[in-house]
Amino acid sequence: ALNRNLAAMAESFAVTDDKVREIIAEFHRSMRAGLDKDDRDALPMIPTFVSRRPTGKETGHFLALDLGGTNLRVCQVELRGDTTYSLVQQKFTITQEAKESRLWDFIAECVGIFLEEHDLRPKPGRRTIPCGFTFSFPIFQTSIASGDLSMWNKGFTVPNSVGRDVVNLTQSAFQRHHVPVEVVAIVNDTVGTLMTSAYSFPDTQMGIIFGTGTNAAYWENLSAVGKWKGDRRGEMVVNLEWGAFDNATHVLPYTMHDNKLNRKSSNPGMQVYEKMISGLFLGEVARNAILALVDQRLLFAGRSSEILNKSYTFDTAYMSAIVADDSPGLDAVGTVLEATLELPPTDLVDRRAVQNVCRMIGTRGVRLSAAAMAAVLLSRPELLASPVSVGIDGSMYQFYPNFERDLYAVSRVFLGADFVDNRLKLHLAKDGSGVGAAIVAMTVEEERVAAA
Ligand code: BG6
Ligand code: GLC
Repeated sequence: ALNRNLAAMAESFAVTDDKVREIIAEFHRSMRAGLDKDDRDALPMIPTFVSRRPTGKETGHFLALDLGGTNLRVCQVELRGDTTYSLVQQKFTITQEAKESRLWDFIAECVGIFLEEHDLRPKPGRRTIPCGFTFSFPIFQTSIASGDLSMWNKGFTVPNSVGRDVVNLTQSAFQRHHVPVEVVAIVNDTVGTLMTSAYSFPDTQMGIIFGTGTNAAYWENLSAVGKWKGDRRGEMVVNLEWGAFDNATHVLPYTMHDNKLNRKSSNPGMQVYEKMISGLFLGEVARNAILALVDQRLLFAGRSSEILNKSYTFDTAYMSAIVADDSPGLDAVGTVLEATLELPPTDLVDRRAVQNVCRMIGTRGVRLSAAAMAAVLLSRPELLASPVSVGIDGSMYQFYPNFERDLYAVSRVFLGADFVDNRLKLHLAKDGSGVGAAIVAMTVEEERVAAA
């Protein structure tokens, strides 16, 4: 019975080549619709007001703030002008309290601490230190330094924020805490990653986050952005917000385990694609699937543990350890199950089954990730004739076993072996988004000085 169940489960999590093609086609429809107008059935496709590619020659020191899904980093970035950079940064784990209520004050406190520890103050003649802000949630930008929060995701639920200008909220907190900093540019983390990668590799066409959440940004010709009200010449970075792809689940291989996660989440019906791909959620999908087998008494003799019964206790990092275990007795799997999750002693059949389930869900995640990347590159087929770099950051890309290798392998099928083997280069833009924000902020400052 266990094997029968596992086979059925494998089928429900499978993403066949035909399925990937269907997803790519739906992506293209949804991208085009979103470029044309804001529409619930389309991808958000947010114009970012970033329209200058970095040259790699930018120089100087710049302050950057980087709010990811897990950490807040405050960084002093040095652009060396020779396509290289360095940064001094302080990482603050975002507390549960900050995620649920006092985020803006938390940010101001962290920036205050950084300024004090690094003895930073405004330049002579200025009242504030200019700063680039990387913000890893969707905002509808109204300029390079303003944008209204469209929604929270990745477990954040700070009240009185949706619909309001994120830069204003931050700036008010700076005032309350007497922090002499001015946000001169706000960028999504994918835009930051794109800019950082472009600073070192001028052929960068996309920035992607495969982390706590997932999303991407790419260069689009403004002539193709129907909803852009300004000048239609040139190009602009567009933030896809692809985590929101196919929320209606027309094409996605959506299972009962996904549905359970989705309906119990802080944002049911939203970010459905993200919930099938990214680090915050994969472990939870796996936990649901494992418990379904437990409830049929096909695993652990029908027993569970207090830990495993609680939501979000099966960390995606455990999944990584389980998937990577190739020891004959599956010892690492046993350690996670027995030592960490406090399950009763497991046998090899249990361990194998759990590893199997984790692999199915991980593989589905990588294949869906590759589908999204391929869809964006294929939306501009002229790009595929030249070398293309893609800047990527996030915990899935960095730590999930063989993630990059599998991304290349799946891409080969849909983008062609010639392109993938000879022209496509995926780069880790580690801690990159802060650097990208600094680059954009620097451009804004230059333009201000030139205009004055
Ligand atoms: C960090 C970036 O390195 O990666 C953040 O600086 C980004 O801006 C983050 O949000 C994404 O990774 P994760 O795994 O922390 O979500
Ligand atoms: C979520 C956010 C998006 C961000 C991504 C990766 O999908 O909506 O803005 O880029 O997470 O951090």
